[in-house]
Amino acid sequence: MTEKKRSQWDVGRLWETLTYFEVIPLISCLKRIFIGNTDKKTAGEANKMGVILVAGATGGVGKRVVRRLLEDNYQVRALVRDANRAKQILGDRVELFEADITIPETLTPQLMDGVAAIVCCTGTRVQPVEGDTPNREKYYQGIKFYLPEVVDSPEMVEYQGIQNLVQAAAKSLKPAGKKVLFDFANPSTDLKETWGAVDDVVMGGVSESSIRLAGNKAVFSGIVSTDNNGGFASVRTRNFNPPWDLSQYEGIELRVQGDGKRYKFIIRCESKWDGIGYCYSFDTLHNCWTTIRIPFADLIPVFRAKTVPDGKAFDTSKVYAMQLMLSKFEYDGGLNPKFERGLFGLEVESIQAYGGKPTPKFVMVSSAGVTRPGRPGINLEEEPPAVRMNDQLGGILTWKLRGEEAVRQSGLTYTIIRPCALTEKPGDKVLYFDQGDNIKGQVSREAIASVCVQAIQLPQACDRTFEVREEEQKAAAINWESLFANLQPDR
Ligand SMILES: NC(=O)c1ccc[n+]([C@@H]2O[C@H](COP(=O)([O-])OP(=O)(O)OC[C@H]3O[C@@H](n4cnc5c(N)ncnc54)[C@H](OP(=O)(O)O)[C@@H]3O)[C@@H](O)[C@H]2O)c1
Repeated sequence: MTEKKRSQWDVGRLWETLTYFEVIPLISCLKRIFIGNTDKKTAGEANKMGVILVAGATGGVGKRVVRRLLEDNYQVRALVRDANRAKQILGDRVELFEADITIPETLTPQLMDGVAAIVCCTGTRVQPVEGDTPNREKYYQGIKFYLPEVVDSPEMVEYQGIQNLVQAAAKSLKPAGKKVLFDFANPSTDLKETWGAVDDVVMGGVSESSIRLAGNKAVFSGIVSTDNNGGFASVRTRNFNPPWDLSQYEGIELRVQGDGKRYKFIIRCESKWDGIGYCYSFDTLHNCWTTIRIPFADLIPVFRAKTVPDGKAFDTSKVYAMQLMLSKFEYDGGLNPKFERGLFGLEVESIQAYGGKPTPKFVMVSSAGVTRPGRPGINLEEEPPAVRMNDQLGGILTWKLRGEEAVRQSGLTYTIIRPCALTEKPGDKVLYFDQGDNIKGQVSREAIASVCVQAIQLPQACDRTFEVREEEQKAAAINWESLFANLQPDR
């Protein structure tokens, strides 16, 4: 592009920008009617970015955990032993990763790549001594008794396998207390549907920028020009719908590699296109990855590059949009000391919220009864079959307890769920949580899947081990926070 051409203001680009961000809703609406549905399900979904790894995803509990996570728009990776079989059970919407928890070499860094939390529903395969149907109808029939036998080694699956998995996870998982907002190494939605350019074309300028994925990062780049009194290029998200609630966090963390220039990060807590943005300027190092922490408390309220001295503090509970900008100006007419016209480039690996309360990174489905074999005072006659037959079943509960210990000692934040006898019922009953491993009863696999999905989200679930059974009465609405908050932490 010649300098002369560049100085010609491009009204078409202004039009594109305004329609992309639906500042001209009528046009967007007409586009939807004539071109098809361009109404991208975008930024609202992005709030669950970060992969949830489900181990034992082909099992009775695991497949329900996968289904619920997908319903909640999580990005799910399933650790499975046989991908073809898993595809029949789980369908196409889930990423399948073949591995075996008893074989540590299969638990590779790729398996853990981008993983925010793990739900582990693996278990030693148990079947009637006379065998089961291909779909394991007898195992899944509920609590009707059959003479069981183990198919695999409980020591390998319940202890070694869990130990292998937590060790691989501890090496790769990011520290608790952070929430991945945009993970450009593992983007789950199309970047183009969330981020768009907002350059000085909106006020007559001719700067031009874009954002694109390249390898495991996003690249915000372009040419910034001061012609026509312009001087900024930026990329902005469409409004998150619903807005994100980041009130549990202290600020935003960017992982970036720049070109030595000073950029601005802008975040908005109102849905208006041309409203107050809360700004933070940050310097980049040439060709060097850096982590930029932006405390919410340090954001400056700004309206069109002018500070708003009596502006309200940033409302962290309603985050509507984010923007990255290279501008000639700082604030109130002050100049950006590191600004240069011409080409620029900022690479972004991730945008995260930091400083949050930790949530569980490893959720393990264990079993009620794990501490009962050999416990003084236990009357085996009154115990469920798994406890009564622990020895005949290769010490399944004893090894499960060892597996639990591996989780508790892993250094990861965790939740250990110990269900009573599992059933295939709908899971609509009141749940009873207890600690000390004394309760008996039954609980639906549907309900346990819900407990798992709740646990990964709730700080109150961190470092808790507890038993679960269903009560007789149907549940109206479950107050998960108070259910978990009533539990004692393990340490
Ligand atoms: N049955 C009960 O009443 C009861 C009561 C309390 C607790 N529990 C426990 O609750 C958990 C979930 O029960 P469930 O009924 O969902 O079990 P399930 O249907 O038997 O599922 C077990 C899952 O673990 C997987 N798995 C086994 N060994 C593996 C290995 N080496 N590597 C990777 N994956 C492996 C299986 O994969 P494949 O499909 O490849 O075999 C399957 O997906 C289990 O730990 C179980 O012991 C059961």
